[in-house]
Amino acid sequence: MDSARILISAALPYANGPIHLGHLAGAYLPSDMYARYQRLKGRDVLFVCGSDEHGVPITISADREGITPQQVVDRYHAQNHEAFRAFDMSFDTYSRTSLPLHHETARSFLVDFHERGILTEKTERHFYDEKAEMFLPDRYVEGTCPVCSSENARGDQCEQCGSYLNPSDLINPRSKISGGKPVFRETAHLYFPLGKYQKRLEEYIAERDKRDGWKENVLSYCRSWFQEGLQDRAVTRDLDWGVRIPLKGYEKKVLYVWFDAVLGYVSASKDWAQQQGKPHSWKHFWHDPSTKYVAFIGKDNVVFHCIVFPAMLMAWNDGHREQFVLPENVPANEFLNFEGQKFSKSRGWGIDVQDFLERFPADPLRYYLATALPEYRDSDFYWKDFQARNNNELLAILGNYVHRTLTFAHARCGGVVPPRSALNEHDRALLEEVRKAPVTAGRYFEEYRFRDGLLEIMNLARRANKYFNDSEPWKSIEADPERCMTTINLSLQLIRTLAILISPVCPSTSGRMMAMLNLEAPGGNAWDHAGELKLQEQHTLGTPTPIVSRIEDDVIEKEREPFAVKEAAEASPQPEDSHISIDDFKKIDLRVARVIACEKVEDAKKLLKLLVRLDGEERQVVAGIAESYDPTDLVGKSVVLVANLKPAKIRGLVSQGMILAAAADGGRLVLVMPESETDPGASVR
Ligand code: MF3
Ligand code: ZN
Repeated sequence: MDSARILISAALPYANGPIHLGHLAGAYLPSDMYARYQRLKGRDVLFVCGSDEHGVPITISADREGITPQQVVDRYHAQNHEAFRAFDMSFDTYSRTSLPLHHETARSFLVDFHERGILTEKTERHFYDEKAEMFLPDRYVEGTCPVCSSENARGDQCEQCGSYLNPSDLINPRSKISGGKPVFRETAHLYFPLGKYQKRLEEYIAERDKRDGWKENVLSYCRSWFQEGLQDRAVTRDLDWGVRIPLKGYEKKVLYVWFDAVLGYVSASKDWAQQQGKPHSWKHFWHDPSTKYVAFIGKDNVVFHCIVFPAMLMAWNDGHREQFVLPENVPANEFLNFEGQKFSKSRGWGIDVQDFLERFPADPLRYYLATALPEYRDSDFYWKDFQARNNNELLAILGNYVHRTLTFAHARCGGVVPPRSALNEHDRALLEEVRKAPVTAGRYFEEYRFRDGLLEIMNLARRANKYFNDSEPWKSIEADPERCMTTINLSLQLIRTLAILISPVCPSTSGRMMAMLNLEAPGGNAWDHAGELKLQEQHTLGTPTPIVSRIEDDVIEKEREPFAVKEAAEASPQPEDSHISIDDFKKIDLRVARVIACEKVEDAKKLLKLLVRLDGEERQVVAGIAESYDPTDLVGKSVVLVANLKPAKIRGLVSQGMILAAAADGGRLVLVMPESETDPGASVR
């Protein structure tokens, strides 16, 4: 869907703790790259976020610290807002759900649904604490786990054995508030009939998927919810922290946190409109059917954004003339892990955004995370990779290109854009790629494929370096100055192209590049003109300064070490010594083998069948490398074979040995090969 007006939301983080790098890779960096890209396309963008400030965990934190829930959310709202600012998020507003404006918005949905007879009331039995005079949320009941007998199981889950529980499953239940034994009492709640919307929801998702291409992971979560069949959902809770309900009998209840949170996107937009002094301008986005609304989230939020929220908007739309737009797409990411394990606050595993950005600038982190986004499956943050991406790519490719071009222009062209004369075929080939890059990268960004988009942009930077090298301006300046000036003119133009294209990913690096060219920050629909030659001859350049700093080994080691130590300490005790002796190793007969024939194994996507030669003998080997290598590329190559492995049958084919390969990015395998000419059969030690 090509639209001039784009509404973008990023999941509202709970104001119950600091955000960490996993959150950034899930919803925030992708949404920000998308928003920045769309602005450069000249589109009218509203990008909203804010704190999700209700829910039981917040009241539990408050009780534990002996402060009010409002104090808890005030603290984390401020901290997270600051962390997002440091990360260069370009939200148009960062609102919060404790605002009266939000309470009114959420309440109006509930009251409307109630008045229109959409909700049903059901009475249920729940635990009640007679001393504290309150109903107990599941997490406020503790007791003995019926599964593992741990005495500290919670009403929703036992942390000891991981079983999901209902409060009534607990043996000897006790209230976390008073410590007393809770009793059952009847309580009424309002339910939203999600099941009634199932068919429309399925149609809605199918239609949007057809139009805008939904991600397979999101579709498959939805499918499994539909398969189970959607159930009525309680939208009220017996609590006193949350959005109050103005209905008789509901004085001591509030809205269920998710029912109010998703409406936070609407109230954040109203908040933004008020800040602009145009209190109705939010309607241009939410009530205009031509608006494209994209909701960025992490995978744990899929059901609320693809099912609950659209159903609520449908229910509203059924009764009103002004229609809310539904999400056109919900590009949810999987999770980012940290150094091979899940982020865990209690174990101190991971790093908070604020701490990170006190030590490193935002752009290297944005760049690295953009290359490692969990777009299709979970991915990992590794300190070493962070350093490598910064030093080997951002610095060595982009930084280096900008630096060498500008220093040359200052040293040899008087610090101005030199004139361009006749283009040769190399220039023209380059310009063809410059013209294509914004189109290709833009297409990836439109498809929420940010890793691929960035790769495309960095390939242009690689290409730029190659052009500079191949053109050898340091030679042509003597032999053919006109040629040299043309080379530098084009090289400078390319810095502008790269600055525009990289700006969604690395906005401040882009800003420095533009400043060095002595150009204004890109505006209008700069993206579509990024490939044009806009720098005028004789235009004065700014001063060259490094745009990226190297990250040294000792700096990274210092960050990484505490986790390495923790990991070693926590590793399950090894049976005595996990080392093997040299004699153990000698039992493995590793040999160089030459590939003499190779073909695909029918009906096995991953398998290749190879015929290899050792000294005098030939062996058949079946290897799982078909997704990484083309059979024809391997013939004549030398590989390393485990020659004394017991023969095995794979898909009915005998395999006499195993070929060594290294695991590379994205699950690809890279064959281990002798570095120079080696005879077949040579032993590997
Ligand atoms: N607070 C939720 C979380 O962190 C996300 C809420 S998204 C919203 O998982 F749209 F509902 F606000
Ligand atoms: Zn248990």
